[in-house]
Amino acid sequence: MTHHNSGKQIVAHAALSYVQSGMTLGLGTGSTVHYFLEELKRCVREGLHIQGIPTSKQTEKLAEAYGIPLTDFSKVTKIDVAIDGADEVDPDFQLMKGGGGSLVREKIVAEAADKRIIIVDNTKSVDKLGRFPLPVEVVPFGWQKTASYLERFGCTPVLRKVNQQPFVSDNGNYILDCAFGSIEHPKTLHGQLKQLVGVVETGLFIDMTDIVLTANNGVVERQI
Ligand code: 5RP
Repeated sequence: MTHHNSGKQIVAHAALSYVQSGMTLGLGTGSTVHYFLEELKRCVREGLHIQGIPTSKQTEKLAEAYGIPLTDFSKVTKIDVAIDGADEVDPDFQLMKGGGGSLVREKIVAEAADKRIIIVDNTKSVDKLGRFPLPVEVVPFGWQKTASYLERFGCTPVLRKVNQQPFVSDNGNYILDCAFGSIEHPKTLHGQLKQLVGVVETGLFIDMTDIVLTANNGVVERQI
């Protein structure tokens, strides 16, 4: 079980210490969260009493398979703790997310949560966001026009594809991956892009993080 030492597994395990019986949890998406769901599965089997709101159909399926009880916003008004991964984390805790295409639901869940915990291995820390293209979720109708508006902000939007077909998000939308290079002012850029007709949401998560758990040389570092 040597892979037990991977950074993703270590931070996934560390996130358990924020979970208490009776809580409603936001369940993020991605491979790091997958490890967290495995931990949660074990705890639920041992009697931990929680319910989760999944941020994607992928997480919903996994949680169901693992016997993790789920709920939704028709039954609860707030989330106690949301646990999610990220593609990039900057020194101010601003995030780039959406590598897995679940940014809208992830952001809705993060916004509804009292405490937001981000679990990342040490490859995700950056001085400035923008190493990866910024995922922007757009309405399919007229996406070419929306792409041209995005281009005016100095990026090259590329329609995300799977098997040569447009990738369709859980919300029925498209994703434009927008290579900006280094993003100097994430908050400003997010605000500008969000105003464009056709843009549903951007992968910039501004002031939405309370705790970041990273793993360096097998040791969890907790940043608040
Ligand atoms: C999905 C996300 C994920 O949190 C992000 O892509 C990180 O994934 P992983 O844990 O697999 O590296 O934002 O939309």
